[in-house]
Amino acid sequence: MSSSPNPRAVVLISGGGSNLQAFIDQVEAGELPLDITLVISNVADVGGLERAQKASIATDVIEHTTYADRTTFDHALAERIETEKPDLIILAGFMRILTAEFVHKYSGRLINIHPSLLPKYPGTRTHKRAIEADEEWHGASVHYVVPEVDAGPVIVQGRLRIGDTQCSQELQHRVLKIEHQIYPLAAKWFAENRLSLSNGQVLLDGEESPEQLQTYNV
Ligand code: GRF
Repeated sequence: MSSSPNPRAVVLISGGGSNLQAFIDQVEAGELPLDITLVISNVADVGGLERAQKASIATDVIEHTTYADRTTFDHALAERIETEKPDLIILAGFMRILTAEFVHKYSGRLINIHPSLLPKYPGTRTHKRAIEADEEWHGASVHYVVPEVDAGPVIVQGRLRIGDTQCSQELQHRVLKIEHQIYPLAAKWFAENRLSLSNGQVLLDGEESPEQLQTYNV
């Protein structure tokens, strides 16, 4: 076990892991005082696992398809997570709905990123829906996880003007650039002990965080 004073994090992924890469890059650059001790994917052979291995981070695959139901999968996941004794669990493109039991177990140290300006557009196809609704703004939200999907208290949001972007893939690409900035930022606040959750309210430096909404020109 490392003797580093940094908080320990486990990252859960299901895919390419570009957000994971943003964490790795910031840790390696000395910008993010976090020890990512393990990356778990619920899907084998995804790009994010390769990214972790390249950064010498331990990986594990726990395939949800091999479990009878959500509860037994979540038990297996929690059991593996527990061996790491993490301070923070980061969902980074983890495409599984977690049981309320799992979410409660890790309340206050389980965070997610969602590609919309919550509470707008929970769920999937957020970019397409924002374009179709002729929204002026779109973006991403980092939030604490609660049992209701994409509904937890927001830690930080980043937004951009949709402008002429009419292609949802292009918008997704633009929003990802924001994700790669705000997600490590939220983790940094956590790692520096500046962030907490009190009665469902996000506190930054002990204060009810003033609207943490940042505008990006990407
Ligand atoms: C991101 O858009 C994230 O917001 C969503 O899933 C995507 C994951 O991308 N939850 P990546 O695997 O981090 O590249």
